Amino acid sequence: MREGAIFIDTPVMVPHTVFNASGHIARFYDIGAECSNCHTKQKLESILKYNNIDLPAGDIASAQNVLDTHVVKCPVCGARITEAKEFYQMFRLPSQGSSGDLYLRPETAQGIFVNFKLLNNVNRGRIPMVTAQYGKGFRNEISPRQSLIRLREFSQGEVEVFVHPVKKYWKELEKQRKLTVLTKDGREMTGSVFYLCSSGILSSNALSYFLNKTHELLVSAGINPDQIRFRQHHDDERAHYSRDSWDAEVLLDGEWVELVGIADRDDLKNHETASGESMHVKVDEEEIIPSIIEPSYGIDRIVLAVMMHSYYTRENGYKVMRLRPEIAPYHAAILPLVNKEGIDTMAEEFFEKLRVIDPYVIFDKSGSIGRRYARQDEIGTPICITFDRDTLNDDSVTIRDRDTTKQARIKKDDLLKKSLTADFHEIIQAS
Ligand code: GLY
Repeated sequence: MREGAIFIDTPVMVPHTVFNASGHIARFYDIGAECSNCHTKQKLESILKYNNIDLPAGDIASAQNVLDTHVVKCPVCGARITEAKEFYQMFRLPSQGSSGDLYLRPETAQGIFVNFKLLNNVNRGRIPMVTAQYGKGFRNEISPRQSLIRLREFSQGEVEVFVHPVKKYWKELEKQRKLTVLTKDGREMTGSVFYLCSSGILSSNALSYFLNKTHELLVSAGINPDQIRFRQHHDDERAHYSRDSWDAEVLLDGEWVELVGIADRDDLKNHETASGESMHVKVDEEEIIPSIIEPSYGIDRIVLAVMMHSYYTRENGYKVMRLRPEIAPYHAAILPLVNKEGIDTMAEEFFEKLRVIDPYVIFDKSGSIGRRYARQDEIGTPICITFDRDTLNDDSVTIRDRDTTKQARIKKDDLLKKSLTADFHEIIQAS
């Protein structure tokens, strides 16, 4: 990553002591309810939403209070829900070892925190420091559903930025974007990230920097910028480890869905207390325990959102996945117009050469050419390269642009000298 992150890969099975220190053992519960009639278990948040009750579930006592003072019905059978329950969110793995049970990690972050000293050593003691981990996380969701949105096993990309606990400074805000924010006191506004930071709406430079970066990342992946907002968590909604949290939410089928959580956390203090290992570092002669700004990316959700924002139907009824070339499953498809007169053999030989340079290419000779173009459009292949009778004579092929469907001729060997992604616009401009 361009921020100079130190990457680490830590185990998915984590000892009890780590999650005891982090507070997960005591506090990582979902508030939910089990219907006494149909026995469906659901998050209270979803049940309240179904009942048009706009209140956070909060803790177990306030959740019970909502159920006592409102008529709340089961979304499945309509019976009244009367009892709030805590559902433990971690998977526990009984262990034969002497150091207690293991848990499947509900976030990759803790693997970074317990290795803070090692990572900071690699960074030669410097703070601020940015670290990152990509991997699986696991949560015992009450009701996994909605395609890739609520999974028990999910992929996370987590960035942990260790900063001075008061200054919380990472870097000058660059390429400032206009962000729409919804604050915890209900204000909605759109402004430059610089304005949002300097007016105190965003509490620190580091937080502002990574909101800005997250916006840039989501838009560059293909998400519609008009359908992105940053929502600050209410005080009774935040995770136990967070002192301030902002969700990057994206509109999917008319609903705002969290894709990225950006939190301001202080986990190192807990790990120092529990382990006895000092987490202090020296910054400008001052001994500090760094705070952490954490953008946590839900990769499955981002993939789903990118697909939903890229998929559309042409006037002729055909479907198109308008993915950026860099993230399309294939960068190009090689298609012989007909499977005779050596055209197919020539196309296949070219395919073999091209895939040495770029493995993300596909050869398809089955079905009509129209059907094959439609097939590639639907999976997001940005370029089709078609071989026909003229290719046998002049080595030129037809380039077809997925988005405009325009076509142009180009010498086939010129394609071997170009990058199908970096030179994409140059190739397409020929058409
Ligand atoms: N590390 C934050 C989260 O998993 O939600």
